[in-house]
Amino acid sequence: MELATALKGQTVQNKIREVGINPNYWYPVGWSDRFQPNQIVPVVIWHQSIAVYRDSDGDLHALENACPHRGVELHKGKIHGKHLACPYHGWEFSGSTGECVTIPYLPKTQKLPCAQARVFAVQEKYGLVWIFPGDQALAQVQPVLEAKEFDDSEWLMVPVTAHFKAHFSICNENAMDVFHGFLHEELQGWFDPVLTDLKETESSVRAEYQVSYKGHMAKFLGLTDRADQVTTLPITIQYNYPHYATTLQGVSALYLMRLPVSPVESRSFALFFFKVRLPKWVLRTLRPALSWAIPRFLLQRFLDQDIDMMESEQQTYLKNRQRRYVEINPAIIALQRLIVRQYEQFVQQSKVQQSSPLQHRSAEDSPTLAEGVPEQEQISSGSMR
Ligand code: FES
Ligand SMILES: [Fe+2]
Repeated sequence: MELATALKGQTVQNKIREVGINPNYWYPVGWSDRFQPNQIVPVVIWHQSIAVYRDSDGDLHALENACPHRGVELHKGKIHGKHLACPYHGWEFSGSTGECVTIPYLPKTQKLPCAQARVFAVQEKYGLVWIFPGDQALAQVQPVLEAKEFDDSEWLMVPVTAHFKAHFSICNENAMDVFHGFLHEELQGWFDPVLTDLKETESSVRAEYQVSYKGHMAKFLGLTDRADQVTTLPITIQYNYPHYATTLQGVSALYLMRLPVSPVESRSFALFFFKVRLPKWVLRTLRPALSWAIPRFLLQRFLDQDIDMMESEQQTYLKNRQRRYVEINPAIIALQRLIVRQYEQFVQQSKVQQSSPLQHRSAEDSPTLAEGVPEQEQISSGSMR
């Protein structure tokens, strides 16, 4: 659906800061090298703690991080072949089915009790480990996003990790919000943004902006030919729930993957791709150094400024959840609508299916929605107050 691009005052709905996730998507939980063989790593996807481990064959497994016997966290246990042994009484669970396969103090002839840890689909792609926390029957049909630049040596790939003490909606709005170039003014970011096109579907928001650049950083990144020259370029920000794919006219691409941890904590794993204007052999030689230096000396400075804003926003919200806010960018309003809709659809489906423990838990963990939200808190058009 095509939406108007005029900047116009709208009241922000409060429940956007309370909604849960739709877990029926793949979420990244860490870079692959964090998951070394024979180590168990605890990760959290929206309250759900998961014990992830790589067996000695290199295969990944993901089990609910709670022993079916007494609830001890399984990440404190040991890896036995492809199984995970709980540290308390040594019950062993299969990494592929979660079934209890051994109780060390039970006679071999005795039948094992029916005790099964929940298993999550897990895969590796783009140097990241991804987990599907929702209805496991959907894991095969739901794709992980496509980053076509990943295998193309023309592009310089720069991975960036971030941690925010903020709800994922606040983080996602930051990425859609091209009008905050003001914040990065001293870093020679961008200026004079114009929203030129906006489209919304059931699961995506696509915003096109025109943005101007100048300065040494813009030149290094290939955005301008000379540092003192102003270049205006179209930028497309595509949010495909729950992650981002942003492109800047063949010059750069950003895949920004969000990991919601709790209503006040989020993580992100980003893949930046740059078409740096360097000869191929130079790029080949400098690739490791650039991939290390660009995030530290360039992107991190932008990120630190953003994190400061997002966490400030979250803190003010927590002090008074009734306070109303005004937004004028229709792309942000569309994004909020999508995030709320995805969650509400999931809650609806869970009520119908009544099948998955994770689904019930996620719905219950968001009291604002569980208790119902007054109609007037829905997004409404209106003048700025
Ligand atoms: S609590 Fe895990 S084996 Fe007893
Ligand atoms: Fe920013």
